[in-house]
Amino acid sequence: MTRKLYVRTYGCQMNVYDGERMAEALSTEALGAEGYEPVDTPEAADLILLNTCHIREKAAEKIYSELGRLAPLKAANQDLRIGVAGCVAQAEGAEIAARQRAVDLVVGPQAYHRLPELAARARAGEAAIDTDMPEEDKFAHLPARPRGPAARRAPSAFLTVQEGCDKFCAFCVVPYTRGAEVSRDPARVVAEAEGLAARGVRELTLLGQNVNAYAAGGETLAGLIGRVAAVPGIERVRYTTSHPNDMGDDLIAAHAEVPELMPYLHLPVQSGSDRVLKAMNRKHDAAGYLALIGRIRAARPDIALSGDFIVGFPGETEDDFRDTLAIVEAAGYAHAYSFKYSPRPGTPAAERAGQVAPEEADERLQRLQALLTRMQHAALERAVGGRAEVLVEREGRRPGQVAGKSEHLMAVHLTAPDGPPPIGAIVPVRILEAGPNSLAAVQDGAAR
Ligand code: 5AD
Ligand code: SF4
Repeated sequence: MTRKLYVRTYGCQMNVYDGERMAEALSTEALGAEGYEPVDTPEAADLILLNTCHIREKAAEKIYSELGRLAPLKAANQDLRIGVAGCVAQAEGAEIAARQRAVDLVVGPQAYHRLPELAARARAGEAAIDTDMPEEDKFAHLPARPRGPAARRAPSAFLTVQEGCDKFCAFCVVPYTRGAEVSRDPARVVAEAEGLAARGVRELTLLGQNVNAYAAGGETLAGLIGRVAAVPGIERVRYTTSHPNDMGDDLIAAHAEVPELMPYLHLPVQSGSDRVLKAMNRKHDAAGYLALIGRIRAARPDIALSGDFIVGFPGETEDDFRDTLAIVEAAGYAHAYSFKYSPRPGTPAAERAGQVAPEEADERLQRLQALLTRMQHAALERAVGGRAEVLVEREGRRPGQVAGKSEHLMAVHLTAPDGPPPIGAIVPVRILEAGPNSLAAVQDGAAR
């Protein structure tokens, strides 16, 4: 009987991508009789992989409670092995197996091409811990991705093009869990995009922890976007996450010139206070960020802007926080994420004086979230009465309805006079109504 694999992914989009590649690396297609078939529940699995996130304390602690819930499954299945992959694995390594004895395998984000060997070791009851950041490129050692119509998949996919970060924001674990900035060779990225297009993918989101610092084979991110956009079948390109200081002129120009590049940009600023930005080691100020947004809007006036914010960073005062509220108003976000500062072991800010009291940070977070929610509603309301194109990704909530995303990454539920268009169709619509998190629309024109 073929062994069964269950992967549960936490955290960012890059983890979603990594989770797919891990399942492929362990598949029967790659390993034959030694391989694993994917299953949907941990109860059905012989190998459970938790693909983890270390960005905030809550994310990391969730893993230990999940491991506590999974451990008893070993009583029912003697062959069950449990592995921890991703950023918690990288940050905590062998300590995980010491803290939770049910863990058989630990693999960091740069070593998961070694999973087949690690899984074999875990099956044999041997130590299987690998948190190296090896010289070898994992992508060069992973099996080729499945190809062709038989491997058809969802029409929107992530594609990692850059990993790691050299920016060292004072709050952030990423430079430690994902390592230094590395960009993948553009020819390999294009080949992977072609393979995904052959499997029905029409929208690609190019991923990197600091994606706009991409530099490889003589290409910048703008050049890479142009090459990926030229792949037959790829109709939409997005990228995330970007740092303001790496927004090159050519990337801004691409927003005006490349029709496939969608009018959406996730460009975190984290705080609106220059004092806090300096303490965060962000290497830009609030005015510089707003000026940059102005240049991007000049290139692409309808761009939807998204951001990340941290409240309660050590030393943040009420005045600093008001500067954050002010930059939110000034930048005009269509969407944003906000977080309470979480001290992460090993990062410079974790040791600093001036930690903000949790109640104060909570109160600021609520005020910021209220403002961001108001702005998101306003952005949805402004879309009503207008037109959009929707890439259909799944069945809708109600019969006859399908759901997908607009160019501006707004969730759209749509109906069509001649019945629901198929998944993967790009459908022109008229927007009828705004809900709290999504739009309702009706097809208006021929799908392509
Ligand atoms: N505490 C709170 N939020 C954090 N982020 C990163 N590190 C921390 C931390 N220590 C947030 C940032 C980043 C997003 C992915 O997570 O806003 O942009
Ligand atoms: Fe979490 Fe960052 Fe790792 Fe993604 S890269 S899983 S956000 S710690």
